[in-house]
Amino acid sequence: MADPPPARTTVFNLLRATAPLEKVLVEGWVRTRRDGKQVTFVELNDGSCLANLQVVFDPSKPELALPEGASTGASLAVRGRLVESPAKGQQWELHAVEVTVVGESTPDFPLQKKRHGFEYLRTIAHLRPRSNTFGAVARVRNALFMAIHRHFQSKGFLYLPAPMITASDAEGAGEMFQVTNLDLSGAEGGKPVDWSQDFFGRKAFLTVSGQLEAEIYAHVFHDVYTFGPTFRAENSNTSRHAAEFLMCEPEMAFADLQENIRIGEEFIKSVLAMVREECPEDLEFFDQRIEKGLLKKLDHVMESAFEVITYTEAVEILEKSGESFEFPVGWGKDLQSEHERYLTEKKIGRPLFVVDYPKEIKAFYMRQNDDGRTVAAMDMLVPGIGEIIGGSQREERLDYLTANIEERGLPIEEYWWYLDLRRFGSAPHAGFGMGFERLMMYVTGLSNIRDVLPFPRTPGNIAF
Ligand code: 4AD
Ligand code: MG
Repeated sequence: MADPPPARTTVFNLLRATAPLEKVLVEGWVRTRRDGKQVTFVELNDGSCLANLQVVFDPSKPELALPEGASTGASLAVRGRLVESPAKGQQWELHAVEVTVVGESTPDFPLQKKRHGFEYLRTIAHLRPRSNTFGAVARVRNALFMAIHRHFQSKGFLYLPAPMITASDAEGAGEMFQVTNLDLSGAEGGKPVDWSQDFFGRKAFLTVSGQLEAEIYAHVFHDVYTFGPTFRAENSNTSRHAAEFLMCEPEMAFADLQENIRIGEEFIKSVLAMVREECPEDLEFFDQRIEKGLLKKLDHVMESAFEVITYTEAVEILEKSGESFEFPVGWGKDLQSEHERYLTEKKIGRPLFVVDYPKEIKAFYMRQNDDGRTVAAMDMLVPGIGEIIGGSQREERLDYLTANIEERGLPIEEYWWYLDLRRFGSAPHAGFGMGFERLMMYVTGLSNIRDVLPFPRTPGNIAF
């Protein structure tokens, strides 16, 4: 009887083999091919790791003579023997015994050996994950995503998938995408749309934050977190804003701002440590190609205590800095990205929390401090990016919260259920939102949010 065919293995596993292997099956895509008189070399990648597997073909054997279409980009299934490689820089190579060209490629495959600019690669989002950089981004993204769940699960937090369609603007900033199934093609004639005829019987939107829902669950399960897609229609075409991004929002009952800061710092350090451990090869690649000193930066962050300064102190530092900023600095004005970056990069040199912002520039749900003019807010800022976390202690006092909503002219009747939480078993509570892509930028050193999202949504961009 014939031997059973070998089970498929990955390049990742083969490159970590401890002894030669007789029968191996590997499936992947050609990164490069070099044809010689005696041998043909193919660098095969199957996405399991950054490195390619060198596959050696003997073209004198008819069954191993590769057709022209087995070129860069083609997909192959190769059976062969894993043997020690005489070549420098790699321990193993595969000597092909049998090959199937599953899908041929052509010379106009866009990812040839030369390095491409990120801007060009964004126009081929269907192919860019086949490049080294974007393959590494995808693996690190996967590891970071799972690390976040693992961290909170290990701390006993309950996962709440918050709804993506909502009727409330959690941030009160009016940056929502409307969701409708009404046919509005004839609606320009000046006649107002009757939203009561819409799917939900009223206007509906894509969520900007799952925080309010998380607060409901925190009043039952103590510590909870959401982690899912979030949408913002801010028309800010910056390198740090996307219209669709992932946000992780932990919410803790019986917690104040101090506890919120402690949990935020512990969280960031813990997930960085996990990714550092799980993606050494990809992070080293980013260290060499994208941000020199990245690994040192990450190690330093995991070891150092994050600084905490008040907004008032931050404004003083900025006023005394002697820097010429584009946007004005002054108590009561929001910190712009250039201010945040000065504080974290030039002044402190590592991540820091800025706390106690003026009430007027922060959301309605933040807890008022005893000074009457600031709220128990916290933003975590990191070098190279600026804000990565935004959070606060929440206003648990019914009268203060009601006043906040009214002062801002928000429709109080829509917050009835949110106010109920302050009427039935109200408890101090706090939480924050961590922008997943911002953290990805920090971990990879990539400076544009479009390059850490598989399919970025930004103004005017939705092709993929
Ligand atoms: O500071 P933000 O707006 O806070 C909230 O949404 C709160 N409800 C969070 C909470 O307390 N539960 O957003 C939180 C984080 C920001 O710090 C930033 O990292 C990220 O979300 N973020 C964005 N990331 C990418 N693109 C955008 N347009 C983003 N807007 C916010
Ligand atoms: Mg914020």
